[in-house]
Amino acid sequence: MRILVLGGTQFVGRHVVDTALSRGHDVTLFNRGQTRPDLFPGVEKLRGDRDGDLSALAGRSFDAVVDTSGYVPRVVQATLDALPDVGHYTFVSTMSVYSDESRADGEEGAVAQLPEETEEVRYDTYGALKGLCEDAVRSRFPNAFIPRPGLIVGPWDHTGRFTYWPQRFAAGGRVLAPAPPEAPVQVLDVRDLAIWTIDAAEEELAGTYNAVSPTQTMEQVFETCREVGAVPAEIVWVEPAFLVANEVGPWMELPLWLGDEEDDSFMRAPVTRALGAGLQIRPLAETVRATLDWVQRGEAPTDPPAGLAREKEQALFAAWDLLGSPA
Ligand SMILES: NC(=O)c1ccc[n+]([C@@H]2O[C@H](COP(=O)([O-])OP(=O)(O)OC[C@H]3O[C@@H](n4cnc5c(N)ncnc54)[C@H](OP(=O)(O)O)[C@@H]3O)[C@@H](O)[C@H]2O)c1
Repeated sequence: MRILVLGGTQFVGRHVVDTALSRGHDVTLFNRGQTRPDLFPGVEKLRGDRDGDLSALAGRSFDAVVDTSGYVPRVVQATLDALPDVGHYTFVSTMSVYSDESRADGEEGAVAQLPEETEEVRYDTYGALKGLCEDAVRSRFPNAFIPRPGLIVGPWDHTGRFTYWPQRFAAGGRVLAPAPPEAPVQVLDVRDLAIWTIDAAEEELAGTYNAVSPTQTMEQVFETCREVGAVPAEIVWVEPAFLVANEVGPWMELPLWLGDEEDDSFMRAPVTRALGAGLQIRPLAETVRATLDWVQRGEAPTDPPAGLAREKEQALFAAWDLLGSPA
């Protein structure tokens, strides 16, 4: 198949390209050439900007398009308009489309409303803007494939939001962990998403789906990291109120932790439909192993935006131990 990947050189798109190439597809990338322009030598690269210069797409036709880089409805609409001759369209969306209250209802939940007329992608607009992008895609391609991933993890994740844990356990010692151990966690291995995306293009799969693993517990995730890390490590469960009192931030500073008050239904999304439509979830240990291998090869960012600084972890332990470990 002739597959156009809009993006393709950072994280999700990169794995989509890898998977498509491994199956012998004819892949074309469209991007600005700013992010790893030398990746995938031998693959056709169209240079342009989704916001303003789509001329390189003129006259081109593709059996399938995979859009990993759409965030603003107007920009997505312009891309759709620039591609009159396309078979199947995948738009990588997000579970952040759901309004907070409806997350527990999963696929059928209400999509968040934009708080104001804006194209600025921020914490409070990202999900609603992605929802409007989905609408634009569905109105042109009623049979589009729209996965809504939760936290995507694995090699080449530039954010560190999951990588922190395999890396931290591999460093050993006492590991500060947010209680409770039974807190829910859902992630999606980027390679599982890439495989499902190329399957969808090949099979012309249609529909909008939550795309995450079945829910596991924080303890299962940490035990898996400890096993794969194969270094002696002690999990020290620390109460959320203590973390809040000591100004530890959720999600980015202490990855996977949703915070003290946050509704955890984000980590309990139903995935039955996705699993029924072909999403296959590999064992978490494989995800942790691949992530750690990537770190240990020296390919991961050394200073990613997410993760608890080791000095702060030590300072937190000192304060926690003074309290006599009430957990
Ligand atoms: N990470 C998560 O946990 C998570 C969770 C849910 C959903 N998602 C979704 O997953 C996707 C993540 O994408 P990714 O970053 O991994 O994708 P990617 O396709 O690997 O990387 C982004 C690509 O977009 C290109 N790009 C950026 N701005 C562009 C522009 N104006 N015009 C043309 N090309 C442009 C970049 O290349 P140049 O810089 O060279 O242009 C790069 O190739 C997003 O749609 C996000 O909403 C992510």
